[in-house]
Amino acid sequence: MEISLKNQVAVITDSSSGIGAGIAKSMAESGATVVINYPNESSQPKADAVLKEITDNGGKGIICQCDVSKEEEVIAMFAQVVSELGTVDILVNNAGIQKDAKLTEMTIDQWNAVIGVNLTGQFLCAREAIKEFLRRGIDPSKSVACGKIIHISSVHEIIPWSGHANYASSKGAIRMLMQTLAQEYGAHKIRVNSICPGAIQTPINKNAWQTEEELNALLKLIPYNRIGQPQDIGNLAVFLASDLSDYITGASIFIDGGMTTFESFSTGG
Ligand code: BGC
Repeated sequence: MEISLKNQVAVITDSSSGIGAGIAKSMAESGATVVINYPNESSQPKADAVLKEITDNGGKGIICQCDVSKEEEVIAMFAQVVSELGTVDILVNNAGIQKDAKLTEMTIDQWNAVIGVNLTGQFLCAREAIKEFLRRGIDPSKSVACGKIIHISSVHEIIPWSGHANYASSKGAIRMLMQTLAQEYGAHKIRVNSICPGAIQTPINKNAWQTEEELNALLKLIPYNRIGQPQDIGNLAVFLASDLSDYITGASIFIDGGMTTFESFSTGG
């Protein structure tokens, strides 16, 4: 059984680091031409480095700047990708940020920034991708589906998270966005799913793993007793983008070393 994304174009939002970079590398290894999106000029060197690693390994891709919370930038990014690479077959809605604060101290800017990137950004990119899928139609030489969207959600799609009301709200909402799109476009053979990562070792959560003490506290929440790696998410993203998962749509798949089994209940309750 071979997983191939050959000749397919995959846009991975904010793939200049972390989970996004891991997904871009895995998809490129599986034959996709990847679009490495980065949000602003300061992240361009990281995007360049991800692309270099991919091309050094024989993969294909381009880099593309766009702040996904800005409608005109998203429209311009998809127009650029279609003009340079012909179409879009796969969208990975990965861009996500945290601006943590207790609710009583949370500013409207912290709220809007997180909702803007994590939720509005996923809506804007999904809208442009679906328009392109429908314009192009099914190309059986590449996939039996007309297009695939993978939302990167979180275990906080279902686990409430004190001090992170903006982030948890954005992830809960992604579930309804994802399922509604799966319902609305299923008849067009567009598949829409979410990946819900637990603690993956990336810059976004470095305060949870950078010292031994912090890492040990984190591992208490993970029955499988290790922190996740971007490659873990990349492997699942490749499967969800491939025809091997053709009957999966409207699903949230948790990939968290068992975090959502609520480990803290293992000794009582
Ligand atoms: C967050 C991380 C956190 C993990 C588990 C993720 O969605 O971005 O900061 O470590 O959930 O709590």
